[in-house]
Amino acid sequence: MRIVQIDHFGGPDVLTLAEAPAPRPLDGEVLVAVVASAINPVDHKTREGTIGDGTPPLPMTLGWELAGIVIDSRTSALPAGERVFGMSHQLGTGRGTWSDLVAMPAGSLAIAPSTISLVEAATLPLPGLTALQTLDWLDVRGGDRLLVTGAAGAVGGLAVQLARARGARVDALVSRPAHVEVAKELGADWATADRTMLPAASYDAVFDTFGAFVTDAVTDEGRYASIATQAGPVPDLSHRAVRTTVNQVREDGAGLTELAKIVNAGRVKVRVDCEYSLRDVQEAHEHFRRGQLTGKVALVF
Ligand SMILES: NC(=O)c1ccc[n+]([C@@H]2O[C@H](COP(=O)([O-])OP(=O)(O)OC[C@H]3O[C@@H](n4cnc5c(N)ncnc54)[C@H](OP(=O)(O)O)[C@@H]3O)[C@@H](O)[C@H]2O)c1
Repeated sequence: MRIVQIDHFGGPDVLTLAEAPAPRPLDGEVLVAVVASAINPVDHKTREGTIGDGTPPLPMTLGWELAGIVIDSRTSALPAGERVFGMSHQLGTGRGTWSDLVAMPAGSLAIAPSTISLVEAATLPLPGLTALQTLDWLDVRGGDRLLVTGAAGAVGGLAVQLARARGARVDALVSRPAHVEVAKELGADWATADRTMLPAASYDAVFDTFGAFVTDAVTDEGRYASIATQAGPVPDLSHRAVRTTVNQVREDGAGLTELAKIVNAGRVKVRVDCEYSLRDVQEAHEHFRRGQLTGKVALVF
């Protein structure tokens, strides 16, 4: 089977298609024939070698997301033939998804949404679980006022839509004026590219996807979560009784089932910028690196 591997760090040209023996699922695992995956910022940083401590040893197979078909099952939870999607914590486990066949715990997968294609489903697990788990930490509920920074991005865009589905009122901080409309189309009530326009002490919760640290915007006794690990910790706001965290995404089949339900209910718009064949993975990374994306870059196997 084919895998996308790196044996040294660098630009997209370090990505190579190699051959490897098929993995064998253990008890509780399933073997997935991968139909599609997608590129995330973490893949780009891992390939470049900028993650630092915690990077799996070289050579490594990259990729965090997959959608495909179960072809062998060691659990009754997901039988062979099931259409699934899942997230593999590639940095934590070294188990990359850019591989024709992936063996992984059934508990890290879920039945894929039935209303979208497997290519679209493959773009959801990492940003979707990050959005869902961080909204849960922030305890966002109906009637809450939430600010999402980087709201036109993959995680931010899903956070806006999922928070709206919970009945929250959502405002957005985006990188440039052209993204104001994008955030509004996703459901933001108000959006700005100018952080000086943010009202002070107004949000019950702030979901910060790029390390904006707009801490003046959160109310006293509010909640502030960043996912921008490399930007460092959120400033200490304990003097205002604001809870803070830098959230780290976890493998979470139950979260994916919840996500699939929301997608099937038509509450989430899936945004795919473009599709590349796996053999064109270097070009796909070049495209991702250029930015200006309107959705995810999908890899089709
Ligand atoms: N902690 C975790 O577990 C976890 C999980 C998933 C992702 N992440 C990290 O979270 C970040 C976002 O991920 P993603 O997949 O959503 O990336 P993405 O799709 O590239 O989105 C990032 C968004 O933030 C915007 N942005 C960047 N700098 C900005 C600035 N100075 N002002 C305003 N907006 C700005 C970008 O705008 P432009 O397109 O104009 O640059 C883009 O819309 C990445 O760094 C990723 O590595 C962490």
